[in-house]
Amino acid sequence: MSVVRINVLEVPEGMAEVLEERFSKRAGEVDRTPGFEAFELLRPTDGSNRYFVYTRWTDEASFDAWMESRQFQQGHAQQPEGQRPAATGNELLAFDVVLRSEAE
Ligand code: HEM
Repeated sequence: MSVVRINVLEVPEGMAEVLEERFSKRAGEVDRTPGFEAFELLRPTDGSNRYFVYTRWTDEASFDAWMESRQFQQGHAQQPEGQRPAATGNELLAFDVVLRSEAE
């Protein structure tokens, strides 16, 4: 079964738009990475400031290899010189997919 890795980003007040804008221009390198299955950027609607970057992979080794790769660096190359970071903190959550169902 697949694995899920979620990067939780803490986004300071007023920076949500900047973060979403950066993601809308993301490199898309991850989409071409072996073992990659899915990505979603999840905006909080519960009053928190934590955005979830959801990724799903065929196996743990594929995710680990991406983290070490040129594609990962290129996917995080946008921070413009001299500008504030769009996120001030991050935390990586890790899951195995146990069961999955999709609409028929
Ligand atoms: C220091 C921690 C991290 C920060 C502050 C961060 C922030 C960002 C930002 C702002 C972008 C938009 C693109 C850009 O600005 O260049 C991005 C892209 C992305 N991030 Fe992170 N990130 C971090 C680590 C991670 C980790 C550990 C994961 C693993 C799930 C991850 C998953 C992604 C993915 C999938 C993209 C899209 C890349 C692409 O299109 O190729 N990030 N991240």
